Amino acid sequence: MVKPLIAGNWKMNTTIQEGAELVVKLRELIKGVDTVEVVIAPPFTSIHHLNFLIADSPMTLAAQDVFWEDRGAYTGEVSPWMLKDVGCRYVIIGHSERRQFFHETDETVNKKVFASLKAGIKPIVCIGETLEERERGETLERVSSQLRGALNGVGEGLLRDIVIAYEPVWAIGTGRTATPEQAEEVHNSLRQLLYELYGMEPVRDVRIIYGGSVKPDNIDSLMAQPNIDGALVGGASLKAEDFARIVKFRHV
Ligand code: 13P
Repeated sequence: MVKPLIAGNWKMNTTIQEGAELVVKLRELIKGVDTVEVVIAPPFTSIHHLNFLIADSPMTLAAQDVFWEDRGAYTGEVSPWMLKDVGCRYVIIGHSERRQFFHETDETVNKKVFASLKAGIKPIVCIGETLEERERGETLERVSSQLRGALNGVGEGLLRDIVIAYEPVWAIGTGRTATPEQAEEVHNSLRQLLYELYGMEPVRDVRIIYGGSVKPDNIDSLMAQPNIDGALVGGASLKAEDFARIVKFRHV
């Protein structure tokens, strides 16, 4: 069994001070947790400071985005090597907010996946359908094509370093979670697609995590599904007690 991964995407929230307070509380609340991998994704500006505060805790760091070049004249961008340098182990790539507001495409997601893997940073690749796509019955087609696009050219040897996050756009920040059955249906079909593309063995350790209004009161039923290997948590990751409860889904 692969270790579940619970990640908190803080989005564009928290000053350094606020982030530090959150991490200090979390350290206490999740002390000793070792059956779950815990990742926090603060804004770029807080990562360096928080890297010191998470020492000897179950938490590791992720960035919320990355550029695909190593260095050069790309004003405003941050490279995978810089993320490595500042202590990140993971990076969220292709979040629906980036696709929606910053023109992220399957092609740019794919470039970022390659660049991150090359630098030794593990991508958390986000995919998910809009409400219109779901209502038209196009969910599986949409997420399959996003997954194929993101992994285009990625060999099986690199697969185990990739996390797939299924985040239905209509469930993000809306309080409207996919039911465990709806999420499981998509996770299962993504797993089948990975089997088709790579065969059984390399896919065994790939985690497919769910995101979209994950809260303390729905995490247990989501994690009870066979193909849900963790969660990508937005709003609830900004509240120490809520995020800790989500991290400890098994222990309750
Ligand atoms: P919420 O948990 O706030 O719905 O956000 C989900 C998300 O976008 C995580 O990346």
